[in-house]
Amino acid sequence: AKRLSFTTDYSFAVKNSEIIFIAVGTPEMPNGSADTSYVMEASRQIAKVMDNYKIIVDKSTVPVGTSREVKNEIAKITKHDFAVVSNPEFLREGSALKDFLEPDRVVIGADDKSAAEKVASLYKPLNCEILITTPESAEMIKYASNSFLATKISFINEIAAICEKVGADIKDVAKGIGLDKRIGPYFLNAGAGYGGSCFPKDVKELQFTAKKFGYDFGILQETQKVNELQKHLPVKKLRSILGNLKNIKVVLFGLSFKPNTDDMREASSLVVIKDLVKEGAKVVAVDPIAKEKAKQLLFKKDFWKDVKVQDFSSFLSFEDDPYKAVQGCGALILITEWKEFLELDYSKIGSLMKSKIIIDARNSLNKEALVSLGFSYIGIGR
Ligand code: UGA
Repeated sequence: AKRLSFTTDYSFAVKNSEIIFIAVGTPEMPNGSADTSYVMEASRQIAKVMDNYKIIVDKSTVPVGTSREVKNEIAKITKHDFAVVSNPEFLREGSALKDFLEPDRVVIGADDKSAAEKVASLYKPLNCEILITTPESAEMIKYASNSFLATKISFINEIAAICEKVGADIKDVAKGIGLDKRIGPYFLNAGAGYGGSCFPKDVKELQFTAKKFGYDFGILQETQKVNELQKHLPVKKLRSILGNLKNIKVVLFGLSFKPNTDDMREASSLVVIKDLVKEGAKVVAVDPIAKEKAKQLLFKKDFWKDVKVQDFSSFLSFEDDPYKAVQGCGALILITEWKEFLELDYSKIGSLMKSKIIIDARNSLNKEALVSLGFSYIGIGR
């Protein structure tokens, strides 16, 4: 309908818009805080070319208080009137369109009521709850949501650890607690920890902001600690079965931090691969789309700086065909629950493996079926 166009020209874009969204990255800084320099730079660029009243909407995930900083920065540069609105994003990688079109809620934070209502009117066709708050509350809602979900995952991972000790099955336990409407069934899959560009970064940033205001966010420290340990669990489990992993061929199903994306940021597979190479295992990794991105990270000397291995490339290779990959392997670890891996013929997989050991680090395979095929099945918390 010719209603969508692209440009690198700030002046053209800003002059032709009533509402301007800032949706740049806010990467993690070495001290755990979020780097807002790209948001501030975008704000300055907008301010320089503004020619009349504009509504500037911040979609980027920014620490509480950034909206006000953006407002001050723009006011330093322009004489024109404007409003700054915080409108955090809640969509997930891999299901972004669906999440956008069917949101649980839209959050709008602004001091200026008419600007808030104008932005709210953009979302009216989506027919969902629209919550209007102050900018600080909107910014906090984003961090509190991600931190709560991350904590839910670390909580279920700790319950999984206890399930193993007492002989309970985490799948049944998660189902049982998730049936309580106050808890809900989502984000209760125990596994090899959360990754991606959001949870790890946001959990750290909220702790940083809390500390800045004199508050020690104890629960989040534990959420982060549990998650870091969780990523080492698959290899720990394998070591406890095989004892020594030296020269054993181990196949890894999955590289990306979750299915339906090639994003490798904070992926659990990176920890698993390093642990395996440290133990002297030979790793063969398979992933439907993340192989190239993984290579960019894994074939860098920097990644291996804490590992005493002469030539890491002789310990690590990639394969496209899962059946070829498993030939002669001593164990298989499922680290990303891609549909492609769940639908394989495991009787054939078993016949190709040297020893039929499966670590299901996402509890996504059919345990009973695998056991009846003669596999040693090891899940998380079951
Ligand atoms: C997350 C949030 O879910 C989105 O609402 C938010 O908008 C986004 O961050 C963001 O801040 O931009 P995303 O990182 O794309 O989305 O992925 P999730 O589906 O939330 O999964 C994150 C990690 O948690 C994955 O590694 C996944 O394997 C893990 N996870 C998820 C579990 O280990 N168990 C679960 O039950 C659910």
